[in-house]
Amino acid sequence: MKSATITIRCPAKINLGLSVLGRRPDGYHEIRSILQSVSLHDTLEVQRARRFSLQIEEEWAAVSRGGGVPADGGNLVLKAAAALKSSLGERAAAFRLIKRIPPGAGMGGASSDAAAAVVALDRLYDLGLKPPEFHRIAASIGSDVPFFLYGGACLALGRGEEIYPLPDGPSLQLVVVFSAKGLSTPEVYSRWDRLLTSTDKASRMNDFAPWCLVLRGEDPAIANDLETAAIALEASLGEVRSALTGAGAKAVSMTGSGSAFFGIFSDAKAAEHGASRLRRAGHAAVNAVSLGRAEWMEAVRAVG
Ligand code: C5P
Repeated sequence: MKSATITIRCPAKINLGLSVLGRRPDGYHEIRSILQSVSLHDTLEVQRARRFSLQIEEEWAAVSRGGGVPADGGNLVLKAAAALKSSLGERAAAFRLIKRIPPGAGMGGASSDAAAAVVALDRLYDLGLKPPEFHRIAASIGSDVPFFLYGGACLALGRGEEIYPLPDGPSLQLVVVFSAKGLSTPEVYSRWDRLLTSTDKASRMNDFAPWCLVLRGEDPAIANDLETAAIALEASLGEVRSALTGAGAKAVSMTGSGSAFFGIFSDAKAAEHGASRLRRAGHAAVNAVSLGRAEWMEAVRAVG
């Protein structure tokens, strides 16, 4: 007998470097990035029901984003359900989503929730989806969603939906700083378009390759091409970068299209001290660790 409620953890991600190669004919941007699962997570509970519903509970990490997450068809959890319509027929589900990952942070919270919804619906109704179908459905919901079917560290190409799992690197001790204001991904990309003066794809690829060394425990200067665009939209983000460096981070970057920044610290103690120092200075800072693929799988499945 299947348990009445399926509960899935939805871990966030950071981008260990993000290179934007240019705008594509379909309006998306061609990117290169290393996506890395982290311990901060939402939780999704799913039960069989006669019609779809979504209840959101807010337990935001560090910042309040009240009202920032749609509970209607705009929510990627319900978009995931709609994407499975042909398999589900008239079958539906009641979702309860506990939100900790702030939206507009670049940590893929909504995408992780959506991937969890696809997995949960497949389990709830024994849909028997095969890996290529999972991937195709996830990519139709959003560029970031397929990554959340694999977790750990992955190379992301194309618009971010082309995913190549990478071997785990060493555990990264992180501090994430959330800004009071979230950023909209389309707005950040469109600002990037306007700031762009030249595209030298060859040199961008050379910049990108060494970032993979972060997975070997080395400290390459990871960079996110969207950072300048994000700071152009929200000038205060420049201070977050220098505050993280001042708190002892050995590498600092924005994640995704922002507005959160993260710092990599040499060990857990340095990361805890760094986060307290940032909080004392008024920043919304939280500690997190990277999750290897097995740890990610454990985190996702632990709840049942
Ligand atoms: O795929 P997703 O719906 O998450 O993308 C949201 C928006 O972000 C797109 O409509 C596009 O404006 C922008 N985007 C982009 N290039 C990417 C990913 C997203 O321009 N690689």
